Amino acid sequence: MTPAQTQPVLVAEDLHRHYPVRRGLFGRPATVRALAGVSFSVAAGQTLAVVGESGCGKSTLARLLTMIEPPSAGRLLIDGIAVEQADAPRRRALRRAVQIVFQNPYGALNPRQTVGAALIEPLAAHGEGDPASREAAAREMLRRVGLRPEHFGRWPHMFSGGQRQRIAIARALMLRPRVLVLDEPVSALDVSIRAQVLNLLVELQQALQVAYVFISHDLGVVRHMADEVLVMYLGRAVEQAPQARLFDDPQHPYTQALLSATPTVDVALRRQRIVLQGELPSPLNPPQGCAFSSRCPEVRAACRQSAPALAEFAGRQVACWLRR
Ligand SMILES: Nc1ncnc2c1ncn2[C@@H]1O[C@H](COP(=O)(O)OP(=O)(O)O)[C@@H](O)[C@H]1O
Ligand SMILES: [Mg+2]
Repeated sequence: MTPAQTQPVLVAEDLHRHYPVRRGLFGRPATVRALAGVSFSVAAGQTLAVVGESGCGKSTLARLLTMIEPPSAGRLLIDGIAVEQADAPRRRALRRAVQIVFQNPYGALNPRQTVGAALIEPLAAHGEGDPASREAAAREMLRRVGLRPEHFGRWPHMFSGGQRQRIAIARALMLRPRVLVLDEPVSALDVSIRAQVLNLLVELQQALQVAYVFISHDLGVVRHMADEVLVMYLGRAVEQAPQARLFDDPQHPYTQALLSATPTVDVALRRQRIVLQGELPSPLNPPQGCAFSSRCPEVRAACRQSAPALAEFAGRQVACWLRR
């Protein structure tokens, strides 16, 4: 491999995102720590999957990666360039290098725009090519995502959810991004067409060598897609591991509970189902010490005193006092 291939395209360094909120109309100001320090890197052609329950900060992370919002602290580097330090023209170039596909294929497309116009728009907005070459590029992308030439002039309402998600993927790829952030891309689709869209994503990645940050709460899907997995709980990474290692031998008690509750992936494990006690705490008011301590089946006194940082354990990173 050449150095250009091994250098990560996307690096997140200790990303934080805080939201100031008020509790009630006259309540005191408080801070939601939606993201409380997440780090990772992704190389071209690789997929990092981000998993965790609803509210753990996955979409917040997606908004930071795509520069929809700035981080409260931490750094984002794209192709080795720190986003925050970049000047305006540079930032514009970096912005187009990271594109996003959202969960809801019905909200993602403008109902007043034909499919062809939706695909051409990003090129026109960036002043790429002339009308004829833009149309040719749009038609070529339509073919790549498995749609037919006659779909070019049709309107979004004429398509099924799966086809719309194909169109959203095509649009996101028009500017040839280095990174595609996929925020629950198949969660809203019928189970019967999920595999088709996932297979399309795998094919496109092989052809275009784009890096994916694949966000999902579905471990079955993650197992199919990921090279590397980041498990999040209340805005923090609790375990980061290569895909096979995570699924064959999960280490963090939270990862073990998640896997034990997913019958379709619980193959090597076949442990008894671990039922988590209590509710997911609010990120407005996380437990003292380890954020998972209030629900952890293995909790000890030390866990309630201070929060464990990620540390190397059994060939991956784990944030747990009992895995040292
Ligand atoms: N703009 C915002 N203002 C206040 N709180 C927010 C905002 N965006 C997200 N949050 C809170 O941050 C936490 C993480 O949200 P989110 O990133 O959407 O999680 P996920 O995508 O994993 O379900 C949640 O508790 C959510 O309520
Ligand atoms: Mg979300």
